[in-house]
Amino acid sequence: MAPHQALIDRDRKVTFHASSHLRDFARGDAPGRVITGAKGIHITDKDGREYIDGFAGLYCVNIGYGRSEMAEAIYRQAMELAYYHTYVGHSNEPQIALSEKILELAGPGMSKVYYGLSGSDANETQIKLVRYYNNVLGRPNKKKIISRMRGYHGSSIAAGSLTGLDAFHKLFDLPIEGVRHTEAPYYYRRGDTQQDMSEREFSRYCAQKLDEMIQAEGPDTVAAFIGEPVLGTGGIVPPPEGYWQEIQAVLDRYDILLIADEVVCGFGRIGADFGSHFYGIKPDLMTVAKGLTSAYQPLSGVIVGDRVWQVLEQGTEEHGPIGHGWTYSGHALGCAAGLANLEIIEREGLTQNAAETGAYLLQRFREEFREHPLMGDVRGVGMLAALEFSPNPQARALFDPSLKVGPRIAAAALEENLIARAMPQGDILGFAPPMTINREEVDEVVARTRRAVAKVTDELTRSGDLK
Ligand SMILES: Cc1ncc(COP(=O)(O)O)c(C=O)c1O
Repeated sequence: MAPHQALIDRDRKVTFHASSHLRDFARGDAPGRVITGAKGIHITDKDGREYIDGFAGLYCVNIGYGRSEMAEAIYRQAMELAYYHTYVGHSNEPQIALSEKILELAGPGMSKVYYGLSGSDANETQIKLVRYYNNVLGRPNKKKIISRMRGYHGSSIAAGSLTGLDAFHKLFDLPIEGVRHTEAPYYYRRGDTQQDMSEREFSRYCAQKLDEMIQAEGPDTVAAFIGEPVLGTGGIVPPPEGYWQEIQAVLDRYDILLIADEVVCGFGRIGADFGSHFYGIKPDLMTVAKGLTSAYQPLSGVIVGDRVWQVLEQGTEEHGPIGHGWTYSGHALGCAAGLANLEIIEREGLTQNAAETGAYLLQRFREEFREHPLMGDVRGVGMLAALEFSPNPQARALFDPSLKVGPRIAAAALEENLIARAMPQGDILGFAPPMTINREEVDEVVARTRRAVAKVTDELTRSGDLK
């Protein structure tokens, strides 16, 4: 048996995988893959087969793979001090320097950073801070959090409740009490009654739906609103024009905190340090992870703005030390990786490259698929792009989900040694390559995508599924 197959068979017996068909994988009916190496935008499996990683892992390896500078920074820190806890005022040097750097990038109004290990745990912290804030202010009923349908904020109990995708709720008894989901800012998939709206009108409509929800719930029961500057896992959807200004105005009217979930957008991916800067959002709290270390170490953070910070201080003054903490908060290896990663992004101008080469990627996709009979929407911002397929683009029709068009195109791309992500809801192929990608590599991504789309289009035509 080939060494790769033998490894996969061992894995099937002992591991279960995220977002997988558990039975098919365990029984050998779904494929496995063991990744053994990576360099730049490429990853290599145990058979030595090389793929372009068009999704940077899970939109996180922003500086690309195989950076010895990162390994060295982590090694140096491990030799000096791998870990000491950060409870009751203990710290480590990389944590201090990283917090200074994050706050410098985040800009005025942001006060402190608290660290975790994943986007999900950082959003758990956000929920706790929002509750604490309103309890300290003597508003025990102001606790609900409004998220958006198609939002993604993690898959733990509370952060998974904020997520607005069915698969993350079904069979888990989620969402928990106190979480509501409002209209997704998804102009392309707007409803029948919004067909004639311009983007601006649709933004106003989303804000009006939010306002109505707040009114229906009671403004004194709604504590916070959470949103990704650009919807990520829900379909890679940049907001319609004016969306964030409209939403912000509603939140200000009712004294509702705004949490910007910057886990994907943060640290350059959309061509600005933060999505909040790009769209002129003024958050009270920000969630960061992924691009903070480019996944060389697990690290996330909650960035607390002045307004919330003052109340947190008041809370501990009145009630004693805050009852929140993780063993690995501010882990020295994670913080050392974060510092080295942010230095690389700055030195190599990767945020600028995300803006420029990302624009080139989008332009190339638009040119390539302008006339394609199944292309419903080509969209993106910075180094994020999505292709949304439709059997009848004029009518923005949906494919029969049982045809699994998105996953089939992703599988065809894989045959071309290109990793693109079939987004979990809808027939959408997502791209978020490392921010180091150059134009020649983009041309290769587009060429492989074209062949993959052509293959599945042919299959659908031959099977009679395209009328
Ligand atoms: C916007 C956003 N928030 C939170 C998360 C959760 O992060 P993690 O998977 O590290 O828990 C993700 C993960 O994709 C995300 O995209």
